[in-house]
Amino acid sequence: MTKHDVLTEEEMSTFSMNQRILRLIEYYRHKMNLDKSQMNILDWGCGRGRTVAWLRRHGYSAFGIDIDSEPVNNCKDLFRQRGYDPEAILSLLENGKETKFPDNYFHFSFSNGVFEHIQDLEAVAENLKRLTAPGGVGVHFFPAHKHFVEIHLRLPFVHWLPKNILCKVYIFLFVLFGKGPKWKELQAKSPLQKTNGYYDYIIHKTYYRSYRTIETIFEQNNFKVAFVPLHEYGLEKHPLLDKLVRFKSLRPFLNWCMNNFGQVGLIITREAN
Ligand SMILES: C[S@@+](CC[C@H](N)C(=O)[O-])C[C@H]1O[C@@H](n2cnc3c(N)ncnc32)[C@H](O)[C@@H]1O
Repeated sequence: MTKHDVLTEEEMSTFSMNQRILRLIEYYRHKMNLDKSQMNILDWGCGRGRTVAWLRRHGYSAFGIDIDSEPVNNCKDLFRQRGYDPEAILSLLENGKETKFPDNYFHFSFSNGVFEHIQDLEAVAENLKRLTAPGGVGVHFFPAHKHFVEIHLRLPFVHWLPKNILCKVYIFLFVLFGKGPKWKELQAKSPLQKTNGYYDYIIHKTYYRSYRTIETIFEQNNFKVAFVPLHEYGLEKHPLLDKLVRFKSLRPFLNWCMNNFGQVGLIITREAN
């Protein structure tokens, strides 16, 4: 399913909430001593609102924000059928920068695979600063900037390259030798047209930044920044890494590797007043 598809009950019947995010919601909910219905949760980059719908069905006061009206419009009917008011629950970034939700409203915000698509991260940090309640928390997962494989195109190192002709030629070589991505919408196109399509995606839809840059942006907006502990990545279950995780002295190095080459799990906390 893509952002062009209308969200249906059939699709929701097989959808399951990201368990890591749910665990973190529950962890902070207990810490904040809130009932589910009291916990205002924000899904930043909610797309077709599946997670918001799932959370609402399970009793949480969940809301969503996105910059793209198409996926958001594609879930509004389902929200109405369930008796929710989509206009109150879902918000588009107005002027690409502002949101309609009140100040200090959210106890918890999250995103999964969104930060690498955000062009203006400073504006997002400013919004989250305004929207997060004192003592509120945000947890945001996204691929590290030096991940060996760009996860959307599934091409190695393509996002390490400068966004110029070099990157385009690099993609073209993969396409030419039949090793490029296999996006359905580009299947019937020539190698050059495919290359242009994938290159456009890298240029206009991905904005990789180092975790240090992202940390600084949130610190400048008065958030305390931390990163999720290694156990949240399930490294203990990895056949090789499980042995390394047991050495306490190696953990800072493993964290550094995750933040640069794996997945970043950013925790932003607003000080309680
Ligand atoms: C990979 S999709 C994830 C969608 C959804 N979270 C899900 O799991 O189905 C990334 C989403 O981030 C949204 N996005 C990109 N830039 C954004 C921004 N600055 N603010 C809010 N959403 C943004 C895109 O429109 C898209 O819906």
